[in-house]
Amino acid sequence: MVGNWKMHGRMGDNATLLTEVAAGASALQKGVRVGVCVPCPYLAQSQALLSGSVVQWGIQDVSAHAGGAFTGEVAAEMAADFGVTYAIVGHSERRAYHRESPETVASKAQRAIEAGLTPIVCVGESLEEREAGTTEQIIGTQLDAVLLVLTEEQAAGIVVAYEPVWAIGTGKTARPGQAQDVHAFLRHKLLAKGASVANVPVLYGGSVKPENAEELFGQKDIDGGLIGGASLKSKDFLAICRAAQIVMH
Ligand code: PGA
Repeated sequence: MVGNWKMHGRMGDNATLLTEVAAGASALQKGVRVGVCVPCPYLAQSQALLSGSVVQWGIQDVSAHAGGAFTGEVAAEMAADFGVTYAIVGHSERRAYHRESPETVASKAQRAIEAGLTPIVCVGESLEEREAGTTEQIIGTQLDAVLLVLTEEQAAGIVVAYEPVWAIGTGKTARPGQAQDVHAFLRHKLLAKGASVANVPVLYGGSVKPENAEELFGQKDIDGGLIGGASLKSKDFLAICRAAQIVMH
């Protein structure tokens, strides 16, 4: 279960949130892995407060480059200096607002892996794409670009997140069956890369809340969640983690 704070948080509030999440997560079963992806300036704070806890921390994006004259960018190796486990790559907000192509996202996933981070590769279709019946084509292209540049062994170490763009921050969640269909499609694509790749966790994201978490995570191919808004409140985030624990398969 991974929180995506997006561009939210301040030192004081973060301290409370991180401490509460760490305390609550320690009571979960070992099988439920919990992480929070924070804005870059708070990586050091996350490392200080979460080291020794069961909660891992991550970054929300990394540069497609390993280093150099790229003002404003953050290299995966830099995140690794702060004990980071996860790197979200290809979030729909970055694809949309920063025009990140599937190839750029693939490079980012490579840089993350080279730095020893686990990329959380986000894929998802817009409402227009879903209505046009092109969901599988769109997310297939997004995932294929990443799988193409990775070895089977590398691919077996990634995490995939399906986040329908129309469900992000809108309060509209994909129906559990609707999400399951897409997850099954993604699983099939992963399997085509290799038997070990079929086991990568495929998370669902998009308006996950305590009220809908159990039904979503009860689906066969939904292995966890990427949680935006609800990860900013420890009570909600932990309730979602507990829901995952109940239906863990
Ligand atoms: P949301 O965001 O839970 O606020 O819809 C999910 C995400 O964008 O990762």
